[in-house]
Amino acid sequence: MAPVTLLSTHGLSKSFGGLQAVQNVDFDLKTGEIRAIIGPNGAGKTTFVSLLSGRIEPTSGQIRFEGADITGDPAFRRVRKGIAYTFQITSVYPKLSAAENVALAAQSALQRDSGILGRIDQTLLAEKTDAALARVGLADRRQTLAGNLAYGHQRLLEVAMGLALEPKLLILDEPTQGLSDGEIDNFCALVKDIARTATVLLIEHNMPVVMRLADSITVLNYGEVLASGTPDAIRADPAVQAAYLGAA
Ligand SMILES: Nc1ncnc2c1ncn2[C@@H]1O[C@H](COP(=O)(O)OP(=O)(O)O)[C@@H](O)[C@H]1O
Ligand SMILES: [Mg+2]
Repeated sequence: MAPVTLLSTHGLSKSFGGLQAVQNVDFDLKTGEIRAIIGPNGAGKTTFVSLLSGRIEPTSGQIRFEGADITGDPAFRRVRKGIAYTFQITSVYPKLSAAENVALAAQSALQRDSGILGRIDQTLLAEKTDAALARVGLADRRQTLAGNLAYGHQRLLEVAMGLALEPKLLILDEPTQGLSDGEIDNFCALVKDIARTATVLLIEHNMPVVMRLADSITVLNYGEVLASGTPDAIRADPAVQAAYLGAA
């Protein structure tokens, strides 16, 4: 069976004043793949995925998810449709426990299923929370205040919050930044596991991680797609080498 497009963009652009942060991006993500987005600092990677999640609005262009135009959808509606996003900057609620952080996220997924006014089944909420924490390996930290977790564990907690939404698409913005080598190995195994149930879009600076995880890679440079292809094709691409890999 031919791969099915989960998300696509057409001519997607975002400018901040005179700065073209994302320029005319045509992008096509297949269901089930792990896609990495790479590119130098300031290339527009975070801006691009912020457009996908609905955190910011495009200047022009279109975003489609499962065939439907979601360009005008607010962020919460995209979450309900199955798009989850973790921020480049750690964004857990420090005064809440790990479990409370995840439960807040899981609640939105349950509201998606039961309607915004439907009653939320507390047992189901606890089950989903525990499942998400267990999946990232934080089951024994469920009562720890998020602010007291080690940095690497806070990043895993964010992933658990994304997983609690039971997303079809999980977007991770530089999730391995600041992690130790051991934590990165653990994280790579986690992403492989997540990819069994969701499509993964990963912004990543660490090239060994990209080459290990990605089925395909999109390279952004000055807000534009410089190249897109398999890890081997990207590694061999002279334009990519000149713009990025050579400088890394
Ligand atoms: N909210 C904003 N207001 C103004 N400029 C922004 C804003 N967000 C990002 N930019 C600019 O857009 C460009 C792309 O930024 P970003 O998407 O964060 O790049 P990357 O994630 O690839 O490092 C940069 O020049 C950045 O300074
Ligand atoms: Mg960024």
